[in-house]
Amino acid sequence: MESENIAVLYESVAGDISTLISSGTLLPGERVPSVRRLSRQKHVSISTVLQAYRLLENRGMIEARPQSGYFVRRARPAAEMAVTNPPSTPRPVGVHDLVSRVLDAAKDPRVVKLGAALPAHELMPSARLGRMLSAIARRSPEALTTYAVPPGREELRRQIARHSLNWGCNFTADDVIVTNGCMEALNLCLRAVAKPGDIVALESPTYFGLLQIIESLGMKALEIPTHPRNGISLEALALACEREKVKACLVMSSVSNPLGSTMPDAAKKRLVQLLAGHGIPLIEDMVYGDLHFGATAPRAAKSYDKQGTVMLCSSFSKTLAPGFRVGWVAPGRYQEQVSKLKFISSVGTPELLQLTVAEFLANGGYDRQLRSLRRAFAERIERGRGLVFEHFPEGTRATSPAGGFVLWVELPPGADALALYESAMQEGISIAPGPMFSASSRYRNCLRLNCGCTWTPAVERALARVGELAKAHLAGTARKGKRPSANDR
Ligand SMILES: Cc1ncc(COP(=O)(O)O)c(C=O)c1O
Repeated sequence: MESENIAVLYESVAGDISTLISSGTLLPGERVPSVRRLSRQKHVSISTVLQAYRLLENRGMIEARPQSGYFVRRARPAAEMAVTNPPSTPRPVGVHDLVSRVLDAAKDPRVVKLGAALPAHELMPSARLGRMLSAIARRSPEALTTYAVPPGREELRRQIARHSLNWGCNFTADDVIVTNGCMEALNLCLRAVAKPGDIVALESPTYFGLLQIIESLGMKALEIPTHPRNGISLEALALACEREKVKACLVMSSVSNPLGSTMPDAAKKRLVQLLAGHGIPLIEDMVYGDLHFGATAPRAAKSYDKQGTVMLCSSFSKTLAPGFRVGWVAPGRYQEQVSKLKFISSVGTPELLQLTVAEFLANGGYDRQLRSLRRAFAERIERGRGLVFEHFPEGTRATSPAGGFVLWVELPPGADALALYESAMQEGISIAPGPMFSASSRYRNCLRLNCGCTWTPAVERALARVGELAKAHLAGTARKGKRPSANDR
């Protein structure tokens, strides 16, 4: 019991310093507080501080310099990942079975969920939302008895238009259609501009939900090389648009999933121009757009849209309440088609939920909520990265995401994330294996880890255990003399 308390104490001290680093208060190369000073400040023993610093050192966050103390470590240059290299031909998608197997297995409450990209319950303002919802139900009972037909409640659309100013957009409430989550928005957009058999270009790796939509609509995916920091390769996309009859392009321009990349503004502008030049609509997914770690909000590619060919999709699933299923789309010149499809697809989005989100955006402290989420996620991502570097096999690389709460991890060639997934599940730990994020079953040596969950010692142990299992797998394949597969990275 006592040793557990000591463990919690030094982890908490390490957590405080880690927050100072991830929030940018302590910069790379700067000295962290001396052991004596921190021990006085925190009212803990010298040995507790030393243990905390050793932990941060193991995680690669700080380094000891002889006679000088501890310093924030500069980023490891070797950890940078290269641009991906998917096949250049379009293909039908078949990820659904793997995705549902992985997501179903993780439903067991005993499983440590490092697979699904779900934010922790305690980070969501559920109690406040619940109070607002009850008050609105009492005040406006008609919200329970009317069909909320498209485009959705004006109060909410106005708030969305106002909030999107942060992303450099200047559309009005009339330009917005409320949907059931971002997933429905993306689905409607794709149906509005493409039909079965058509080719859709998208980042690689990409969010498996996008692949599932393409699969369900009988379209083909054309995976485009993507840089882990700067996003989709415009050179590769330009070539693909010359060579293939691309009908739509699906891009997460800011804080992508799973890479966490954000395209530079100039690249976003060029993306819009490139696609408009070919008459190809851009479906932009900004579901993580508010969860950036940088000081300023990223611009949406939509902000450069002169011809109305960009369809901007987002939701409140990652920032307020995934269970509400409140999302939206600003579909530009495809407004009419999307509105019609929304009605056919689900008639509307529950009014009570729309009004509750509108009220939260107007008076609930949404900006404060976003600031606290960004801080929490930045800290968890840093801790997760540290544990990956500490426990995963030599040569493992991990993204340094521009925001959000997932890490993309690339194991050394020869590692098999599907086999690792099976072994981890046997120990009650779910991970998301790389092939879920590709139409061509690539990324066999990669996995995505969710760091947005409730952060406990059990989560840290689970992360470390996945690393140990990966090491054991690699040692096994090395003994068997297995060669790296062509699908590695
Ligand atoms: C990139 C991306 N887009 C869309 C979605 C779906 O969002 P929603 O839950 O609002 O439907 C997700 C959910 O994980 C996502 O990661």
